Formats: sequence, structure tokens, C-alpha cells
Amino acid sequence: MALKDIQKTFGAVVALRGVTIDVMPGETFALLGDNAAGKSTLMKVLTGVYQPDAGTIELDGVTTEFPTPSASRDRGIEMVYQDFALADNLDVRSNIFLGREPQKNFLGPLVKIVDRKRMETETERVLARLDIPIPPRLKVKRLSGGQRQAVAIGRALAFDARLVIMDEPTANLSVAKVDKLIEVTQRLKDLGIAVIIITHRLDEAFAVADRFAVMRQGEVVGRYRTNEITETQVAHLISHGTLDDYVESAGTESGQKRKIGSTSSIPVVAEAAAANEKKKDRS
Ligand SMILES: Nc1ncnc2c1ncn2[C@@H]1O[C@H](COP(=O)(O)OP(=O)(O)OP(=O)(O)O)[C@@H](O)[C@H]1O
Ligand SMILES: [Mg+2]
Repeated sequence: MALKDIQKTFGAVVALRGVTIDVMPGETFALLGDNAAGKSTLMKVLTGVYQPDAGTIELDGVTTEFPTPSASRDRGIEMVYQDFALADNLDVRSNIFLGREPQKNFLGPLVKIVDRKRMETETERVLARLDIPIPPRLKVKRLSGGQRQAVAIGRALAFDARLVIMDEPTANLSVAKVDKLIEVTQRLKDLGIAVIIITHRLDEAFAVADRFAVMRQGEVVGRYRTNEITETQVAHLISHGTLDDYVESAGTESGQKRKIGSTSSIPVVAEAAAANEKKKDRS
């Protein structure tokens, strides 16, 4: 999958100024960058939510267009949302198939009803693929954060995703759940599914990603394999847009979990809470 030279403008705001990225099957790719860098907008172009003003989307080397979100989904591209967007009052199988329930004939071909049996067996199949067994009839409100995440990703697997996009999947999760995410990402990799993960957490990006791109003000300012560069260098790139003026400062900040674009050393949890407050204010 490749996005080539994507441009997108909203009125006076240029959100994307010609962005190119590519992801291989089974590869985990992190999209990094400060607030308003254009990460979510780029993924909305890939999932058919927005149409680019210029640039192309390629699947298997063939140029394609996604006029709607369902066109993108039909080609195996699935988005997992930040809060996992699950319906608490429904059970696991209903959440996996929400809005896309399989149907079967009822007393002849004229009347169709939802095929709950198939939903149940398919739910068991996808959760087994993730190695996270959850009873298909359990209400989602009873699930832990990690289990909710599995259901959200299970939604993607039930429809044979080849690329799963996660926009800030761990923003509301504890450290233990972040570990689980790393495990799930590894499962997706083993299944040959590509993953694009948007995150503000460098430790998380370095833990899961094979490669990453740093975006700033609508442009890619760097792309690396995770073994080519340090977290501190990436943090500098995110806030300055270049490594030209990067100076190695002995020992400082290494080992501390820092939020991208931030120069403070407040614990990650407090920062995540602050970021959430900010998001609430904006919406
Ligand atoms: N629907 C829209 N209408 C107008 N402007 C928009 C719209 N969507 C995004 N933008 C603008 O485009 C720019 C990029 O936004 P985007 O949401 O892609 O950033 P981001 O990298 O995902 O940031 P964050 O890390 O805060 O989620 C911002 O300046 C934003 O205000
Ligand atoms: Mg965003």
C-alpha cells in the first residue's frame, strides 16, 4: 500500500503538502508527529473519509480511489478508533459485526434475517486468531480495556483486513494494556497484516514499529527504521522538523518516557490526561 504525494487543504489550512508513505504486508509502520501535523487527515484520505486534492493511493502497485469509507473497507483497510468505538450494551459478536451483520434466508429467499449463529462462530474464529478468547455473548460493558481492544481489532479481522490503522490506540490505556497492544500487533504481523499506528508515545512506537515517518506541518520530515535512530533524536525531529541542529546531550532524558513534542518530564499518565482534556475542549 502506498500513498503518493497526497495534498489536502481545508479552506485556508493546508493539512497535507504532498505526503508519501508506503507499508508492506506484515509490516508495522508508525506515523509520528506533533498535534496538527496531518496524521489523522492522511489516514482519513486512506480510509475514504476525505478525498485528496492531489496525489494517488496505490494497492499492489495499482492506482485506486476510495470515494467512500466502505470502498476502502471493501479493499481490506480497517480503522480502529481511539476509544475503540464499541457499543457497551451489545454483546461481543454484535460489536464485531456492527453495521455489517451477515444475513440468511428466513422461510424462503424473500425474507432475510441476521445470521447470529454465523456471527458467533466467526467471532470465535477471529478472537482465536488474536489469541484472546472472549465469550461471544458477553456484553461489551463487562470487558476490560485490553479485551475491548481485542474486539475492536477483531472487527477488522472478521472482514479480512490486510491493513489495520490505529489512531492513538493506547491514549486511554494503562501500561499493562500497552504491553497487550504490542502482543496484538505482533499477532497481526504474524498473520501478514500491515499495521499503521499513530501515536504520541515514542516508547510505544519503538516497541512495535519496524519503520516510521515523522510528520510536521503537513509534510514528512523524516523516515527511518526503528534501529537507525534514538528516541531523543526522534523527539527533536518532531519538535524542530530537522536533525541538523541536534546536539547529543550526555545522559539527559534517556530512559524517561516523554510525550512527543513535549520538553517536560511529567509522567506519561499525567500528560495523557492533559491531552485528553485538550481533545475534549476541541470537540
Ligand atoms: N475537517 C477539517 N476541517 C478543517 N480543518 C481540518 C479538518 N481536519 C483537520 N483539519 C486541520 O488540518 C490540520 C491537520 O490535522 P490532523 O487532525 O490531521 O492532525 P494530527 O496530526 O492528527 O493531530 P493530532 O495529533 O492532534 O491528532 C490541522 O491544522 C487541523 O486543524
Ligand atoms: Mg489526529
